[in-house]
Amino acid sequence: MKFINVVGARPNFMKIAPLQRIFNKSSKFIEYKLVHTGQHYDYNMSDSFFRDLGIRKPDYNLGCGSGLHGEQTGRIMIEFEKVLLHEKPKIVIVAGDVNSTLACSLVAVKLGIKVAHIEAGCRSFDRTMPEEINRLLTDAVSDYLFAIDQISACNLKREGISEKKIYIVGDIMIDSLLFALKKIKARDDVLKRYHLKKKQYGVITMHRPSNVDNSDTLIQILNIFDEIQKEIPLVFPVHPRTLKQIKTNSEMKLLLNNMKNMIATEPLGYFEFVQLFTNAKFVLTDSGSLQQETTFLNIPCLTMRYNTERPVTITKGTNTLVGNSEYKILKYFNQIMNNRYKQAERIPLWDGQTAARIVKILLAKDKK
Ligand code: UD1
Repeated sequence: MKFINVVGARPNFMKIAPLQRIFNKSSKFIEYKLVHTGQHYDYNMSDSFFRDLGIRKPDYNLGCGSGLHGEQTGRIMIEFEKVLLHEKPKIVIVAGDVNSTLACSLVAVKLGIKVAHIEAGCRSFDRTMPEEINRLLTDAVSDYLFAIDQISACNLKREGISEKKIYIVGDIMIDSLLFALKKIKARDDVLKRYHLKKKQYGVITMHRPSNVDNSDTLIQILNIFDEIQKEIPLVFPVHPRTLKQIKTNSEMKLLLNNMKNMIATEPLGYFEFVQLFTNAKFVLTDSGSLQQETTFLNIPCLTMRYNTERPVTITKGTNTLVGNSEYKILKYFNQIMNNRYKQAERIPLWDGQTAARIVKILLAKDKK
């Protein structure tokens, strides 16, 4: 059975790596090719993840880097179609909600090739987010929809997707997180590098267009970071999209440079970042995946968004939505500093076995 695994942007790498490990073990029955669209291309946004997660070198790199959404999606489609015509796989496996996910799903379905979507059914119900459009459309054309939980599965059913196509398999990110935790067990090099003490600092990540593309909003958020770093050191690996904005604005540059307790770094590799956030007192983020990872590890997480496609992290986890409201961020930050925060419950199937469940389902379907 021949698969094509697609990766493109940073959050895809952790979602494909566990599958590859299972594929490698079952190599007698399975042939797979890895396609990297090239959406993320910096060493720290891409190559370092291949190294840490042991992902093999891509069989194809489409080299479709930055661009406007239509342009980026279109370029990926043109290049990916050539790969599919040549390789003729049985199933294309895509993950998450980035432009590469949608572009490759569309090409596959139009060539009559089945699509398997990992992390199907996540919905923020906010169509101004590019990711929400990618999620809706990818799920609409997918044949195997692998959901992280019951809520995502319900979203899919509500959209009229046949129950027969939906499988609740848990969160594959947790497979990668457990893999990383085992590998970095005794390491504290990142903490040493930045002179950090366990549970005595916070971690920030931020890259959503809604937070970083508008300079007034970004300045307002940086001012909030300024307040927080007066009380506790902050480490902020800066995403290229955010860096681009800050670099071109002297007020922002000055603001960030003047924060004495703020460590702004380049994006970190996966193992380094796992080491950093697992030892943090709290995380302040607008990422999707980090909401899940912090819930799994019971680390307080304040999400700088007004909605989430991962509501289980609110109802059963440590996540709180704070938008970019100074009042809310500081209120919940103060609670965390006083050790008052929600405790996470165990979420069914977030157990490190999600990739194994996915492969089992795909192989069983092939026999029918
Ligand atoms: C993309 C995903 C987002 C995901 C995020 C994780 C879409 C619509 N968005 O957002 O869902 O959460 O990745 O990081 O697919 N850039 C570099 N080097 C790189 C990659 C990007 O410098 O390796 C810069 C470029 O200037 C580019 C900008 O970052 O224009 C944005 O990159 P892009 O891939 O378009 O979207 P992200 O904001 O990274």
